[in-house]
Amino acid sequence: MVYLTRPLPEGAVEALAPHCEIAMYPLDEPVPPDVLRAALADSEGLYCLLTDRIDAALLEAAPRLRVISQMAVGYDNIDVAACTARGIPVGNTPGVLTETTADLTFALMLATARRVVEAAEAVHSGQWRSWRPTWLIGADVWGATLGIVGMGRIGAAVARRAAGFGMRILYHNRSQTAEAAALGAEWVPLDELLAQSDFVSLHCPLTAETTGLVDEAFLRGMKRSAIFINTARGPMVDEAALYRALSEGWIHAAGLDVTAVEPIPMDSPLLTLPNCLILPHVGSATVATRRKMALMAADNLLAGLAGKRLPNCVNPEVYG
Ligand code: GLV
Repeated sequence: MVYLTRPLPEGAVEALAPHCEIAMYPLDEPVPPDVLRAALADSEGLYCLLTDRIDAALLEAAPRLRVISQMAVGYDNIDVAACTARGIPVGNTPGVLTETTADLTFALMLATARRVVEAAEAVHSGQWRSWRPTWLIGADVWGATLGIVGMGRIGAAVARRAAGFGMRILYHNRSQTAEAAALGAEWVPLDELLAQSDFVSLHCPLTAETTGLVDEAFLRGMKRSAIFINTARGPMVDEAALYRALSEGWIHAAGLDVTAVEPIPMDSPLLTLPNCLILPHVGSATVATRRKMALMAADNLLAGLAGKRLPNCVNPEVYG
């Protein structure tokens, strides 16, 4: 039996059904941990989402589990070392959501710089009285300097878009990449990137090393006119520091698709700020991309059940 922690986009259940018996949490909300635990007592495969916490204690309660397949590229919710220790391969869905997430990164850059949400709200509330020379004026994205922190697949896709906008592209990454060089992106130390960029966009994975990366020093290192963008993972940002940065004018604005706790608590001070645009983790949310992710995760799951190498495995060391 395989357990699916959520109803999936069309096609995924159909792909799995001929090959295995399926049990599925029926609601479009995170499966309660005790329900997941009980379901895994008897499951050989788990198809999960980034809202599910998969840790060593859960694996202890899943003696028959042979494969975990997550419908996401990020997998910081899974204790991969614990999976590896039990010989369980973990699959993810890299590549298919790269361009879609880069699109949303640009949506946030454009929306924050050009005050798109505020402008639309002004129309709805009857404030559009005439064309005014100084009303709702913002900053140019075109021709500005973009600092990309983390030049992986999504960082590079953002850089490609930035090239089309005539932007100067700086990046900071553990290693310099040929793809970045081909786009004319320049590797710089982090402090230099922060000091020079009009937009700073985060594209690293969440790890012990990147947790809290965007702290007071990071934000104070940015230009006062700069905009911070995060479509990666919320816990990389110290939100108390971000609140101070936005409310005290250390930086100009922020566009976030992810927050430290998701959903963001409704009493978060960030929600009181007009210069902080927050979206509900929709980076990969297009019909085509979610379908591709769902099918890719189904392929990983079926490969694992069949004892084959997962097409996209985050812990290939399980194969020795
Ligand atoms: C979404 O955030 C993902 O990791 O796929």
